[in-house]
Amino acid sequence: MGKYVLALDQGTTSSRAILFDKQGQPVAVSQREFPQIYPRPGSVEHDPEDIWSSQLETARDVLEKAGASADDIAALGIANQRETTVLWDKTTGIPVANAIVWQSRVSDPICRRLKQEGCEPTIREKTGLVVDPYLAGTKITHLLETVPGLRRRAEAGSVLFGTIDSYLLWRLTGGACHATDYSNASRTLLFNIHSLGWDDELLQMLDVPRAVLPEVLPSSHVYGSTAPELFGKPIPVAGMAGDQQAATFGQACFDCGDAKNTYGTGCFLLVNTGERPVTSHANLLTTIGWHLDGKVTYCLEGSVFIAGAVVQWLRDGLKVIESSSEVERLAATVSDSGGVCFVPAFVGLGAPHWDSSARGTIVGITRDTTAGHLARAALEAIAFRSRELALAMQKDADLSLENLKVDGGASANDLLMQFQSDILGVPIVRASVAETTALGAAQLAGLAVGMWGDTEELRRIWKAERTFNPAMDSDERERRFGIWKKAVGRSMDWAED
Ligand code: G3P
Repeated sequence: MGKYVLALDQGTTSSRAILFDKQGQPVAVSQREFPQIYPRPGSVEHDPEDIWSSQLETARDVLEKAGASADDIAALGIANQRETTVLWDKTTGIPVANAIVWQSRVSDPICRRLKQEGCEPTIREKTGLVVDPYLAGTKITHLLETVPGLRRRAEAGSVLFGTIDSYLLWRLTGGACHATDYSNASRTLLFNIHSLGWDDELLQMLDVPRAVLPEVLPSSHVYGSTAPELFGKPIPVAGMAGDQQAATFGQACFDCGDAKNTYGTGCFLLVNTGERPVTSHANLLTTIGWHLDGKVTYCLEGSVFIAGAVVQWLRDGLKVIESSSEVERLAATVSDSGGVCFVPAFVGLGAPHWDSSARGTIVGITRDTTAGHLARAALEAIAFRSRELALAMQKDADLSLENLKVDGGASANDLLMQFQSDILGVPIVRASVAETTALGAAQLAGLAVGMWGDTEELRRIWKAERTFNPAMDSDERERRFGIWKKAVGRSMDWAED
């Protein structure tokens, strides 16, 4: 068996490939950014060809960097930006349109229609999700309603739907395999998370023909092999999961109550709720974590749509920093945000507010406000939003967080991690392998081919790098959070239709 597992981490703004060894250590990393397409306000698209070519380049690059060949690779695992929707021609492989990205609000009118028709309670009950343009299902409906002739082709079975995992799998296997895993299926609004199958009533509500859907398979499973011409020899594709579920797995959150927060473009907090789907009363999502060894593990999830993206905005929009890593230095030029509160609701607010008309709001600016205060307020916003999720989660699952494991690009920011610990009042534990999303995908693939025996073995190789302990007293914490809540109220119900 090969000595490495190749993980593909197909994210919102970049494609990454990482080779892991049996100790779960990254041996080589490759990354390529690809273009973001904004056809109109609130609409975000990707060219599927950019996704594929950037991902393939990184996979080849990482093999070259490690001096490895296909013979050295025991298996390939995929973690992907979730909900992003592609429809392509079954024969030619040509996408019918650009991929509609998870952040896109383009299917908002369809969501409103579903709510008016009274579909929301059934959708919530069966899928664990809310009716929001974030999820994949209404993006499919939107494409079927707007691309000329598409509905007829879809009904005739000549068009395939996939989230990015399915699309990459199909391309990697040369069109031999049209499948998804349970975690990705659970983000579509079409999958019943209790009976574990595509649901006819949901398909009817969203008006999606069954013929477009992929087969749903376990997250750790040999789906097929890469086409020989891609890497010289076939490599088994043996693991797939949505990136946030993969990160939860890579953080060794195997027990009920284990939680992680990933600070990427957005911020996603997931808690393992075991074999039981917990119905949220606080507008969180109930989702499938993974399907492994014949069992489904469920999670509760809260999402912040804009996290690292607010730092990108400071860089590209306001131009107060030249690179994202400079934000920590700029924020450290002031000792606090000077009363500035920044709610970066650029694309609406996700859980627990679900207000797609909320917009970015900065309050508390005075004559003394500097770029440093804005940078600090932007970082604090990420931590405040994460606290909102943690509070909702504790209420729903009736558990108290003992600590929170963290990963993702912005988790490298010590100032943010300390503030997160202060504002949550619990220790923040940063993983030694920051690439937990890719690691989770690698582990799911490695388990399927026997590189690792079980999750106990994976638990033993997980290590913390640093723990941040709360240093803020509880009165101050509540005072600051009170101001934040007031600012959130100002950001809501803002955008016009
Ligand atoms: O649900 C969207 C999420 O999967 C995107 O993750 O890491 O690309 O921001 P990321």
